[in-house]
Amino acid sequence: MRGEVAISGSKNSALPLLFASLLTGERCRFRNVPELADIRTAIRLLQDLGVKVGALDGHGVELVADALTGHEAPYELVKTMRASFLSLGPLLSREGRARVSTPGGCAIGARPVNLHLNGLEKMGAKLEIVHGYVEAEAPARRNGRRLRGARLALDTPSVGATENLMMAATLADGVTEIENAAREPEIEDLANALGKMGARIEGAGTSVIRVEGVEELRGVDHEVIADRIEAGTFAVAAAITRGDCRLRGARAAHLDAFLLKLEEAGVQLDAEPAGIRVRGPERPRSVTVKTAPFPGFATDLQAQMMALMSIAEGSAVITETIFENRFMHALELVRLGADIAIEGNNAVVRGVERLSGAPVMATDLRASVSLVLAGLAADNSTEIGRVYHLDRGYERIEEKLCGLGADIRRARAPRA
Ligand code: EPZ
Repeated sequence: MRGEVAISGSKNSALPLLFASLLTGERCRFRNVPELADIRTAIRLLQDLGVKVGALDGHGVELVADALTGHEAPYELVKTMRASFLSLGPLLSREGRARVSTPGGCAIGARPVNLHLNGLEKMGAKLEIVHGYVEAEAPARRNGRRLRGARLALDTPSVGATENLMMAATLADGVTEIENAAREPEIEDLANALGKMGARIEGAGTSVIRVEGVEELRGVDHEVIADRIEAGTFAVAAAITRGDCRLRGARAAHLDAFLLKLEEAGVQLDAEPAGIRVRGPERPRSVTVKTAPFPGFATDLQAQMMALMSIAEGSAVITETIFENRFMHALELVRLGADIAIEGNNAVVRGVERLSGAPVMATDLRASVSLVLAGLAADNSTEIGRVYHLDRGYERIEEKLCGLGADIRRARAPRA
């Protein structure tokens, strides 16, 4: 694989940003928003709530939530895209009521939302789970505010809970402190946009976030950060094919732990003003990997790293600490000739000289892309089923890969 690829805007940053538009009646413009199935689902939900949505030239979305007509996030949408649950905090804080379906289980793990709910209850919300929905209320207080500031300590630095509670706290009465908060770059991006809207937030990107509630928020014009997970995925594409690629727009600072592991595996990396240059070795070396919350090794890059380790020299141990069922791709990689043994939340990957193409099945977003990466390094052709998983999080992936010299094509039209 050779050449340059433009990294799209971040899915996991654009989603909470779109829901942040519910916090104000003024116009919100978000630029560098990726064209993905998940983004379309979020926009559909916002339109169902009565948000006026318009497209701006080139990857831009304009939203105006000045007259909401609904307060419900239906099961049909939430089960398709769990981040729809991020509508709860903003709706409750601004409107004082919301009916949001609980997301239910997921292919990669149980993924409960108890931390979101506990936090909102501590901020004074009345919550009830009825028929699979969170029925939420926050009657107006004397000064018109709905929620009140509180000290929240998260059991685990959940990205979603941090985002939901941080958004809810922006309009609350008083100060909210979120301890053991998530530190992902997407949290900082959200806090930056909220800051432009007039929110008073300190400490985003650290494990203690302090939010002083304000009366109301104004509109914003904000550019979404580059997608670090897409960038990491293309870095592995270059590494697994002995390639030389430039990832335009990628930010090395958002990928530290991952890039260190790539270097340990023998991949040559150069952080450049416009992005990152990645040069793959003749054969990568095996390295051990343990996923962790940011700034640790991202769980969303674990599957891609497993694909690379499947052709590495030596044996690698990959430990997944975030999600309890995130090795579904391993058995599909074994179908391509990889030698992987799963022991609890550890995968032992003994590198093989070469993978051989075969039909395989995608099970979730990142698992599906690890099969694409393995297919690029395998003999003959690999056919991947259920690629709708890919379209949820990768914009025009086959076009981008072809631009770098891959021979990849979609067998059927993508799902709407
Ligand atoms: C976000 O999911 C990302 N999704 C995920 O990316 C990513 O894998 C994850 O963060 C971790 O980095 C989006 O941003 C839209 P969490 P989120 O709450 O917020 C437990 C992808 O591939 N937990 O940080 O749902 C939970 O079960 C996706 O793009 C609770 O126990 O993740 C998990 O074990 C997949 N109770 C851990 O925390 C809660 O209330 C981390 O989950 C919330 C979470």
